[in-house]
Amino acid sequence: MEHGHTDDFTIEPYRPAYREQILEIFYATGLLGKSLEPAFSSPRFLELLFLRYYTQYEPQSLWVAVSEGSTVVGYLLGCQNTKRQRRVFLTHILPRLLPGFFIHNVPWRKRNWAFIGRWLWGMLRGEFRTAYADELYQKYPAHLHVSVRRPWRRAGVGQAMLQHFFDQLTDARITGVHLQAYGPPQPDSTGALRFFASMGFREWARRPVQLFHAFRAGPLHRVTMVRHLELFKG
Ligand SMILES: CC(C)(COP(=O)(O)OP(=O)(O)OC[C@H]1O[C@@H](n2cnc3c(N)ncnc32)[C@H](O)[C@@H]1OP(=O)(O)O)[C@@H](O)C(=O)NCCC(=O)NCCS
Repeated sequence: MEHGHTDDFTIEPYRPAYREQILEIFYATGLLGKSLEPAFSSPRFLELLFLRYYTQYEPQSLWVAVSEGSTVVGYLLGCQNTKRQRRVFLTHILPRLLPGFFIHNVPWRKRNWAFIGRWLWGMLRGEFRTAYADELYQKYPAHLHVSVRRPWRRAGVGQAMLQHFFDQLTDARITGVHLQAYGPPQPDSTGALRFFASMGFREWARRPVQLFHAFRAGPLHRVTMVRHLELFKG
């Protein structure tokens, strides 16, 4: 399927009816644009860990691209205040993770333990620590995650969703937004990094990560990117 026209989809605010489709896209694209299934067996647990904040605690900053009335073809998980998100995560989501771990059958699959092991090892090595975090959250308090279904990529969906979020942030007088993306050590050589550069983001920091080594050949960096918003609206 090839889509080249921005009028094939519309950008809409989140509704709970879209939750399952968002989870489906997240699970199908969450591992560097590919399926998370070979790495982790439980989409429900990942929903609790990664999506719940955006759907439950800040749904007004979640945008979806919808085609043919109700098919979600992409989503943007937005957050206007990253420090708030971290507080909500610690007080409301973290306590649900242990019960969720068993309810969603995480312990009974070997691949889950392999992934958790790599993740914990990465944490110990500081791979996911964000450089100059205090300054980052002060200058660029908002953040986002974005994903588009594979057949819909390069059709302007990501760009349209980011534009919506930028406008929303500008209206709220929030002047900076950041994100985390993954790519090879050479600057500018993957789709996601090029996409964000084309949307006005620049690199803030990068560090090597090993989390995805089992699924992807070659070294990989976790890249923090930032964007000022005054530049966007004249
Ligand atoms: C990255 C992603 C969100 C981009 O969304 P998209 O809808 O395909 O991007 P758009 O069509 O809006 O692209 C806008 C511009 O960005 C640049 N761009 C987007 N994808 C690109 C790619 N793969 N390679 C090079 N440039 C790219 C181009 O300049 C493009 O304009 P053009 O098509 O007129 O040349 C999408 O590819 C995706 O979901 N990838 C998997 C998930 C992911 O990596 N998310 C980011 C981590 S938070």
